[in-house]
Amino acid sequence: MTTVLHRAAQDAGLAPSILNTQPWRWRVAGEALELYADAARRLPHVDPDGRLMVLSCGTALHHARVALAHAGREPAVDRLPEPGRPELLARLRDLRARPVTPESILAYRCIRQRRTDRRTFAPGAQVPGAALDRLRASAEAEHARLYPLQRQDVVYLRYAVQGAERVGGRDPNAAADARRWTHRGADAADGVPPETVAAAADRQVPLRDFGLGDEAALAAGPGDDDGAEYLVIATDGDEPLDWLRAGEATSAVWLAATGQGLAASPLSDVVEIPGARALVRTLLRPAAQPQLILRLGVAQRVEPPPGSPRRPVTGIFDAN
Ligand SMILES: Cc1cc2nc3c(=O)[nH]c(=O)nc-3n(C[C@H](O)[C@H](O)[C@H](O)COP(=O)(O)O)c2cc1C
Repeated sequence: MTTVLHRAAQDAGLAPSILNTQPWRWRVAGEALELYADAARRLPHVDPDGRLMVLSCGTALHHARVALAHAGREPAVDRLPEPGRPELLARLRDLRARPVTPESILAYRCIRQRRTDRRTFAPGAQVPGAALDRLRASAEAEHARLYPLQRQDVVYLRYAVQGAERVGGRDPNAAADARRWTHRGADAADGVPPETVAAAADRQVPLRDFGLGDEAALAAGPGDDDGAEYLVIATDGDEPLDWLRAGEATSAVWLAATGQGLAASPLSDVVEIPGARALVRTLLRPAAQPQLILRLGVAQRVEPPPGSPRRPVTGIFDAN
């Protein structure tokens, strides 16, 4: 059984995380697999409450569930099982045998195909309504909600992002957080490599400024990104359990989008700054708490953007 759990933790390591901090650890406890937040990897100024750290761990939790389903196993999942130990985010136990379905094979394959694609998306290549319906169902299956923004609301998202940029840009501590994870060096196993960051471009909604300037080495692509859809991933509450669920939903939606040949990149600066997040909140009906925004569209080039590094599983998995 440890081999199955080890493999699931390894596959979960491919999950997306804020600034590629990979803020998770896995531990085998008897027959169970436990997921812990690694607070040493939290961004102290960008993410003082640890919301995006927990959300990132939620993406890893969902990836682990997909890996287990592919191995013909379904665990019972206890989320935040011990109130006195908030760093213990989930315990996966009672792994029952289950049939491997075509859906679980596809989702598993998408773990390796999925990438953050920060290039501009194809203009005029609308994401089909049926695809959005499937993504909405993927979020709801994870107890979260998905709000594709209406065209007329995208301008308010733009205002919110610009406001977040202004506030974030004035905060030297936030800039230091970003610098720590964007200048890790060529051999690093974490952080955001410059070749995955698109060069500055005039877009309908600006992407996060990683502070890389001319070092951002990915060609942004033509156009102002007006082919992008913006999906707000939201939850009813705003507690650690909601953050974890939002992460699981992010993974579920993103893997499903990958399976449908769509490209995506998250926007989180807009939910890091309270005023900007409040503006996004006004766009959601029925009311909900925005947790992350996924920019979604059709890639303009066949070749995917470069991948980002990952820590070896030995560094994140404790079998004792
Ligand atoms: C909670 C969260 C927040 C993120 N915020 C941003 C963001 O604001 N801008 C961005 O370009 N990418 C963002 N990302 C994407 C990560 O930078 C990316 O997942 C990580 O660098 C690993 O790359 P990969 O997704 O290609 O594997 C975010 C991801 C997560 C899970």
